[in-house]
Amino acid sequence: MCGIFGYIGQSDASSIIHKGLKRLEYRGYDSWGISIIKDGEIKTIKDIGHLPEKIKKKELFSNIGIGHTRWATHGGITVTNAHPHFSKDKSFVIAQNGIVENYLLLKGRLESKGYTFETEVDTEVIVKLAEDGIKKGQGVKEALINAFKKLDGRNTIVLLDLKNQKIYSIRNGSPLILGVKDDEIFLASDPLAFNQFTKDIVEINNGELVEIEKGNFKIYDIERCKYIDRKKRREKLLNIDVDKGKYDHFMIKEIVQQQHTILRATEYTEKELAPLIERLEKARTVYTIGAGTSGFAADQIAYYLRKISLKNTFSIKSYETESYLDIMKKGDVVIALSQSGETADTIEAVEMFKEKEVYIATVINMPGSTLSRISDIFFMSKAGSEICVASTKVFTSQISFGYLVAKSIIGEFNTAKKELSILSSNLENFFTERNLKDIKSIAKLLIKKEHFFILGKGQNFHIAQEGALKIKEISYKHFEGFAAGELKHGVIALIEKGTPVVSIISKDSNSKDLISSTFEVKARGALTIGIGDKIFEDEKCFDHFITVADSNELKAISNVIPFQLISYYLAKELGNNIDKPRNLAKSVTVK
Ligand code: AGP
Repeated sequence: MCGIFGYIGQSDASSIIHKGLKRLEYRGYDSWGISIIKDGEIKTIKDIGHLPEKIKKKELFSNIGIGHTRWATHGGITVTNAHPHFSKDKSFVIAQNGIVENYLLLKGRLESKGYTFETEVDTEVIVKLAEDGIKKGQGVKEALINAFKKLDGRNTIVLLDLKNQKIYSIRNGSPLILGVKDDEIFLASDPLAFNQFTKDIVEINNGELVEIEKGNFKIYDIERCKYIDRKKRREKLLNIDVDKGKYDHFMIKEIVQQQHTILRATEYTEKELAPLIERLEKARTVYTIGAGTSGFAADQIAYYLRKISLKNTFSIKSYETESYLDIMKKGDVVIALSQSGETADTIEAVEMFKEKEVYIATVINMPGSTLSRISDIFFMSKAGSEICVASTKVFTSQISFGYLVAKSIIGEFNTAKKELSILSSNLENFFTERNLKDIKSIAKLLIKKEHFFILGKGQNFHIAQEGALKIKEISYKHFEGFAAGELKHGVIALIEKGTPVVSIISKDSNSKDLISSTFEVKARGALTIGIGDKIFEDEKCFDHFITVADSNELKAISNVIPFQLISYYLAKELGNNIDKPRNLAKSVTVK
């Protein structure tokens, strides 16, 4: 999703902004722009598509500038629509993250005052509103604040001011963070963007404006018009690994890392977990929440809390909270899952839950993110930076953490730790050349097919859904994950000769049902693939079988790995952009 970067210091702003925007690329974008101040004017370069490896330095040498990566919401992917956007007199440019929900209304009002619009983007109303304020005699800062106050929706904006040689930025919703190094100041949507320059950060909260000039920054509360004295702090967790190493793509690197990341995610002590466990023990109802892959992690954790801890638990999708709000009671616990900690749907849901006085625990992977700051307690997934847009290692980190919590409630913290370490060594043994080759050949079998189904039940139901999502995201093929029980109630109508059906089968009370379902689709001509425990590899219902690491109570985690690999190899064969799939953003900061 859109990314913002700003810089004031001694060095070459355009090359620093370029490096910063490159670090924000993983969030997803379709056009970009950089504006700097040079020779008494603002110079801007913009383009659609991806940032080039280098930008022409000489023409753009300056010590102050802003940059933006745009993920189109209002208006097509064109150079004109790319940010930053100039004021008419070229005295400032503005870039924005978010959506101005009332932009049509504001645009109409401005048009009736005689303003004309050149782009299709909602950002342009912010530019015109600021221009309007300046025309009335307001200073740039005042005009920007007044413009901002007229906007509905979650928006974070940045303005580069020619006359005062300053950068102003206001946050509401979309993340914003400062990096400080001596007299250099960095501004970004994500600390990953300036992590190579500094680890000293200053958080900007919703409703705050930051005014940046050379060697200095000031933060104001825009409602109370009050200066805020906030000191920088050192963020230790910013050791972010952004190299592919020996791998062709971040995705495969991140898949293989899971043998280690599931352990890091669960390296908490009983003492560290205690505040959450105590709340969970007392809670009448527990809610887990997330969107996309984190939504499936929320489902799986709810499964563990019901099945292992016997807790009354509902899993809610972040964007479908309405019917739960009135049944939430003080003392209930919400566990919110999010890789980025910035997902607008999840943040909005948590904000609504807070009003119900429930206890909010979040599990996030990005240090300093919004969700961690608005919760009562937060835990890091500690998966390290996940650069591929499709989440893999964070999903398994989240559910491993959920498993540890579920077991801790029933006093089995040590058993959980043992199980997790067995799983980790099983995974280490799973990533062999031979296994990878077999999965690659199964992916090749699927290349010409368009529709696929995945069946799961019990502990594997949500794994079927996450497996399907993973493959959709990267291969653009139509995979659907179903509860095996649903098959006879409708889905079977879609099965024809050659339709691939993947069944997830574990040694548990559901295995018989999975075998019958697979026979039923095979009888109708399906190409059947099994993923699961070794004891099923010779079952006659399967045309192909991928044996996973047998991991007792953690089979669900073993079972998702082959789907991640099928997704990767399928996309590779198809020549898709694996780490940055089309239309998707890593951090979904708008609704
Ligand atoms: C994951 O592969 C997806 N790209 C997406 O579904 C993601 O999980 C979702 O947008 C939620 O993101 P979060 O974990 O950062 O909240």
